[in-house]
Order: sequence, then C-alpha cells, then structure tokens
Amino acid sequence: MRGPPPKERGQRLAKSTWYLTTPIYYPSDRLHVGHAYTTVAADALARYHRLRGQSVWFVTGSDEHGQKIKRRADQQGVSAQDFVDDIVGQIKDPLWKRLAISYDDFIRTTQTRHHRVVQTFFQQLQERGDIYRGLYEGWYCLPCETFWTQTKVQSGNCPDCGRPVERVRQQSYFFRLSAYQDRMRQYILDHPDFIQPTTRRNEMLAFLDEGLEDLSISRTGLNWGIPVPGDPDHVIYVWFDALLNYLTAAGYASDAERFEAIWPPDLQLVGKEIVRFHAIIWPIMLMAQGLALPRQVFGHGWLLIGDTKMSKSRGNAVDPLDLIDRYGVDAVRYYLLREVPFGADGSYTEDALVLRTNVDLANDLGNLLHRTVAMMGRFADGSVTLPPTAGADRVLVRETERVGAAVARKMDEHNLSEALVAVGQLVRAANRQIEVAQPWNLAKAGQTDQLHTVLFDLAETLRVLSVLLTPFLVEAPTRLRVQLGLSTPVADWKETAFGQGPRTYSVQPGPPLFPRIEREREAPPAEASTPSTQAELVGLDLFRQLELAVATIVAAEPVAGADRLLKIVVDDGERTRTLVSGIRAQYAPETLIGKQVVVVKNLRPQKIRGILSEGMLLAASTGDALTLVAPEAAIAAGAKVK
Ligand code: MSP
Repeated sequence: MRGPPPKERGQRLAKSTWYLTTPIYYPSDRLHVGHAYTTVAADALARYHRLRGQSVWFVTGSDEHGQKIKRRADQQGVSAQDFVDDIVGQIKDPLWKRLAISYDDFIRTTQTRHHRVVQTFFQQLQERGDIYRGLYEGWYCLPCETFWTQTKVQSGNCPDCGRPVERVRQQSYFFRLSAYQDRMRQYILDHPDFIQPTTRRNEMLAFLDEGLEDLSISRTGLNWGIPVPGDPDHVIYVWFDALLNYLTAAGYASDAERFEAIWPPDLQLVGKEIVRFHAIIWPIMLMAQGLALPRQVFGHGWLLIGDTKMSKSRGNAVDPLDLIDRYGVDAVRYYLLREVPFGADGSYTEDALVLRTNVDLANDLGNLLHRTVAMMGRFADGSVTLPPTAGADRVLVRETERVGAAVARKMDEHNLSEALVAVGQLVRAANRQIEVAQPWNLAKAGQTDQLHTVLFDLAETLRVLSVLLTPFLVEAPTRLRVQLGLSTPVADWKETAFGQGPRTYSVQPGPPLFPRIEREREAPPAEASTPSTQAELVGLDLFRQLELAVATIVAAEPVAGADRLLKIVVDDGERTRTLVSGIRAQYAPETLIGKQVVVVKNLRPQKIRGILSEGMLLAASTGDALTLVAPEAAIAAGAKVK
C-alpha cells in the first residue's frame, strides 16, 4: 500500500540561498580534464552569483561506494576505505585547490552524515510503499554502475558506454519508478527550464515515452555500500545512495534551518551521460518524498579527444595538474570555459589551449593592459584624471554598458562560453579605440584633454574587464588591477558599471599579464614547387576549405631584426588577429592603417621571429613587384571572400 506523500516541503519563503551542485565523482582513479571541466564551470557560476550579492551554497564531492571501487581496491590489495581516502585527498588537494574551486561543502558518501540521510530516506519511502522487495533478473554495467533490462542491452553490451554487461539474478529492493512516469512527464512539460539545454530535455521526454520500469536499488554479495535498514545482506544501489548526496549537503534531516534556506537546488550541473539519473530518477525520488524538485538540471557536453570521450578507461585522459604546471591556472580555466559552447561536445587539444591563451589572453587582453599602462606612463606621467570637458557619449562607455549587460544575461542562462565571447568583444573594442584615437598623435599635437579622455576610458574599461573576468580567472584580475593602481579586490558585480572606478588612475607598470606561450613546433615540410598539371586541379570543395575574409588593418610595425617583415594586426570582424607578412619592402607600416585586405583565416598559426602569425594576407607579386589584394569597394570587416 502506498501512503500519501507528506505535504510539499522545501519551496518556502525561507529559501535564501543559491544552491549549486556538481556530480560527485567516482574516486576510482585520478580525475582528468573532463571532470575538471564540470567543476570549473560550476565554480565560475558560483563566483558570479556571489558577486551578484547572493548567498551561494556550492557543493561538490565524491561518490565512493559501489562494486567498481571495491574491485579496484581489491586489485590493489588495500581496503576500500583506504583506497578512496587516498584518491579523495588528492582530489581536494592538489586538484581542486590548484584549480581554485571555491566549493562550500565537499560531500563524501562514506561520511556518517550521508549514511544517516540515505537510510532515513530509504525507510521513509519503504513506509509509504514506494520501495518493495522482489527478484531482480537483468544486466548490470559495472563501469556505469547501471542496471539494464534485456530489451535495452545491445548484443550483450551497455547501451550507454558499449562495454559488456554482467548477468544479475538476485533478491532486490525496488523503487516504484513506474508509478511516477506520468507525473514526471507532466512536470517536464510544465517546467520548460527544468532540463537544459533543450536537446537534453527532448531526449528525456523520449526516454519517458518508452516507459519506466521499477528500479532495482539494492545489491547482495557486496559489502561496500550503505546497508538497507533492517536487512544488512543488501547494500543500497550506488546511484540511489549517490543522488541523495544533494539532500545530505543541504542539511536534510539534520539541520532544518539550513535546509529551509537552501532547498531546492537552483542548478545541478551534470555531464550529458548522467542527465537521465538527474532528470528522471532523482526528481521521482524527491516527488515520492514530497520534496521540491531542482529548478534546473543542465547537461553539458563531453570533452573529446578526436571523436571519443576523454576518459581514463580509454587511456586518453589528460591530467589537469600537468596543464596548470605548464600554462597556469587561468589559461586552463579560460580554455575550458571559452573554447567549447557550453552544452555541446567539443574537442580538447593542447594546441587550441595554447592558441586561446596566446590570442585572447596574451595578445588581446595582455597587450591592451600593456599598451594602456605604457601610454599613460609615456604621455601622462602615469596618472590620468577624466577631464571635465569629456562628453558623456563615448565609445567605450557605450561598449562597456552593452557588454556588461550581455555577460550578465549569458551568465544567468549559464552560457559561460558566450559570456566570454562578449568579454572578448570589449577587449577588442578597447584595442580598436587605441588605433582609432591614436593617443600618440594627440600627445604630439598637445591635445591633452582628448588624450586624457582616451587614456582614462581605457583604464576604466580595463577595470571593468577585471570585474567581468572575476568569475572565470582567479589570478589575472588582481594582477591587472595592481597595474591599474587598484589595491582592492573585486567585491560586487555592480562594479561592472562604467564610472565606478577611481577619479584618477595612477598606474604601476608590471610584468606581462599573460606571457606568450612559446612552443617548439615541428618545421613545416619544405614547399615543393612543381608546375601545375592536370592532376593538381582542385575541386570546389577544396577551395571552400579556405576561410578567406576581408579584414581591416588596425596596426602595423616592423619586426625587429627582419628587414622584410611587418607585424600587422587586423580586425577580421570577429576579433583582432596578428599576422607576420613579408611586405616591408613595399609598404611603410603607417600607410597600412585602415586599409582593407583579404586574409586567410584558417591557416595553421605559425611562429615567425617569435611572433605567432595567425593567418596570411593575400598579395599579388611578380618579380620584385608586390601589391596587396583588396576589395574593390569598402565592405564590412569579416565579409567572406569566395
Ligand atoms: N559518480 C557519478 C555521478 C554521481 S552524481 C550523484 C559519476 N561520476 S564520474 O566520475 O564518472 O563522472 C562525473 C562527471 O564527470 C560526469 O557527469 C561529467 O560531468 C564529468 N566528465 C567525465 N568525463 C568527461 C568528459 N570527457 N567531458 C566532460 N565531462 C566529463 O558519473
């Protein structure tokens, strides 16, 4: 007999805290960059919400029971507890510590507080008839710790991970999932934001349409788990145990005041492979208990190596600590959050990490700071106040306001990558402003008010950038602020407003914010020049692989020690890009500014004389004569050439 669920709890006025969770990780092995991805994303969101003045409860932890971990411990000849203690210790420190994960609670499923909650919850559902005893016959995937019925198993393999499943036939406790199928479906339909992104929501609706069977939630013959109350031959299924961590960490059944303030979770970030557990099984567990459901389960994509998921068992795992050692914590965090659209799968490559760091952080942001501070030193003795003559309608004031609002909007949607795209737009707008306003000419002409207005706006924009980047980067914002002469850390998102900074900026030049990463590259194969033959004709598809676009030159300077080379910065409509080009004999750098050219955008970047050249300018040449290829009439930068 199923009793009535207790009255709805959790969704009360007392809820005051933004509750964010990551999955709890299996400490079966050392964690890799894929695990760091979820946690860094959660950390950026936690930091953002704290800056917005919200009280935040950010929980991560470890999922320590189950057959897989027991087997690993047995293989190593150590007790399961010693085995997990060792790995969990390393997850907390050095891994999360070095990635600067600002969690408020780290929950371990082996903790007493959690055992209590799991057993209490089990009993509560049992008393109401949602848990019953029966015989389980089916299949079990050990790596996924998942039960599968005959119909779901594909030729003896797990439908999720493709690895062989094991036959299981034993007495088991069951959770009456099937009774909640319609309510769950209706809940998803009534709450469009409950499962995000929408693709995952659709997958879950399709899964529900196939029908839910009651879930086996206990195992016999395994002692590494939480015993079923009153029936110690059974341990509670590891997923049933693990999902309840979110209740334990909120103070369920132990700290009523905290629970009222925290419950329900506002955002549960999970990888796409475990959305089903979080968006169907878990909410049904809560429904059965009359508890409020999480406001959102967000299923992000995988980091792939080539076409396959990064994972320890596939032997393609990358160690985040190794990356931090070599590139620094901010480069790693930035790459993870910026590179892949949040929600989608994306390839991990170290080359892309280096490129992102060099282009976005060293070149665009680092140079902006360096140039601003240097110009303030050179043209204003290092100190600038906004002159009273400055009008209110200035390009960086407008752009800062636009970007600040865009970043907040994207963060509220949990769209971390697009938030960073918007930040990049502000960086580029400021760099462009230097080229447009040409402070060196204002200084030469003695136009002090205009000069100080430009320099002040640049400093103020950099200050705003230090605030916008605070959720994402953990070292650079402070280092940036020190160079701007600001001694206080960022405390509030309101500081993103233009004009919230000091009246006078007194800068302190410092080391580069992000030194360029120099990597030895293999020398490209020598180009063979063979006469064209019929065999070399190319199809349109090959031509189309080239990304050609119109770009506007915003800066040009000679490359020291190379009398044929110029370093050219172009605006390609999306961002600035640096090119090293052998046109110095034909073009004086200052004559190039503002010219429109055609660039190859998807050429593999190459270091030339220590400068990373990210593409190529098209030029026509014969003998000594050389002329740049340009659009016949002005057109927006970024226009495709085809
Ligand atoms: N213990 C369960 C979760 C229980 S939550 C109540 C589990 N653990 S796990 O360690 O295998 O994986 C946890 C999470 O790590 C995944 O959901 C996913 O968020 C993340 N990732 C692991 N590999 C990943 C990639 N290659 N790419 C992106 N995220 C990945 O599942």
